Amino acid sequence: MYELNLDINDFLDTYWQKKPTVIKQGFSDFSDPILPDEIAGLAMEEEIESRLVYRDQKDQWQAECGPFESFEKLDADGATLLIQAVDNWHEDAQQLIRPFRFIPNWRIDDLMISYSTPKGGVGPHIDNYDVFIIQGLGKRHWRVGAKQSLKEFAAHGALKHCEHFDAIIDVELEPGDILYIPVGFPHEGYAIEPSMNYSVGFRAPDQNDLLSSFADHLIDTNENAERYTDRSMQLREKSGQIETQELEELHRVMLANCATPEQLIPWLGKMLSEAKHDLDLAPPESPHSNEHVIDALNEGAQFIRLGGLRTMYFEQNPSLIFINGEQYDFHECSELGQLLCDQDEVASELLSVINDNPLALDLFTLLINKGYWYTI
Ligand code: SIN
Ligand code: CO
Repeated sequence: MYELNLDINDFLDTYWQKKPTVIKQGFSDFSDPILPDEIAGLAMEEEIESRLVYRDQKDQWQAECGPFESFEKLDADGATLLIQAVDNWHEDAQQLIRPFRFIPNWRIDDLMISYSTPKGGVGPHIDNYDVFIIQGLGKRHWRVGAKQSLKEFAAHGALKHCEHFDAIIDVELEPGDILYIPVGFPHEGYAIEPSMNYSVGFRAPDQNDLLSSFADHLIDTNENAERYTDRSMQLREKSGQIETQELEELHRVMLANCATPEQLIPWLGKMLSEAKHDLDLAPPESPHSNEHVIDALNEGAQFIRLGGLRTMYFEQNPSLIFINGEQYDFHECSELGQLLCDQDEVASELLSVINDNPLALDLFTLLINKGYWYTI
């Protein structure tokens, strides 16, 4: 269990998405939830995204994507192995996301872990996500610059760097220290000793992400798409001109399906709840029955939400629950849906919600049989 030493209100007011800060001993007595060897083990797996970044004998940046069979590069200084979405694969590491759930689930991206040998780092760069970088094992020197426009270039096909920047934060992180870097602030960090870093990342969609996803949704679902029609064509002098009211009508047709925020809910719920990385889905071999689920709860079982599973609902319509890119109707049991979205683990508190509510029990059993919640 990791407890974050942070005045959350002050952090949200002063720093979140505004400016970088160091949270000295954000976790006191920090102990790493995962070992470097386990990190290497994950990097050997096909479905897990991993990257090795190092400088070659000519001091040129190199980046290789996994899976890896061996790790000779990590015998030398100046190398970093990075694994994406470790929260999907490692239950103990997943615990590191929980202290940051004061930022809502829909904003959380993943937990990336890096292991660096001394002098290892990925070089100066700008991320398009907000990140809390937790120092685990070892020490690392970090520099963060002000938000500014800097030239960016490919130091290697798979490694984007930015030009030199002056530091507004220049710090040596020790185990348990946290560096918060908002989107767009240049930074670079180099290990002083063999070093583990845990990055809890938050990536917000931009206009292009939203519009292209909404367009895909319309193509899939809007069979009888409204077509532009000429409402009152008049004889005109200028055949090369698109008239103002025609432009206005095109604009109206284009936006008719997204004129109100509520119209976005079915699409946005699906889009935002889609898994960002492969899930470690392992549905039970023989499906559980409702009775089995009730018995387990009565015996004190805890049901844990699968790492990386994205679950959410909208304030306007809290009985529509979005799980892993699908919409579920929790109409008769919205309390259950909200509990499943708001908590990483559920136990006896579920009993009062699903007892005497067959629909709720059916839905929860269905979700367990899909492998979305599991008990240990
Ligand atoms: C790392 O952990 O090596 C990279 C983290 C970052 O700079 O975003
Ligand atoms: Co970064």
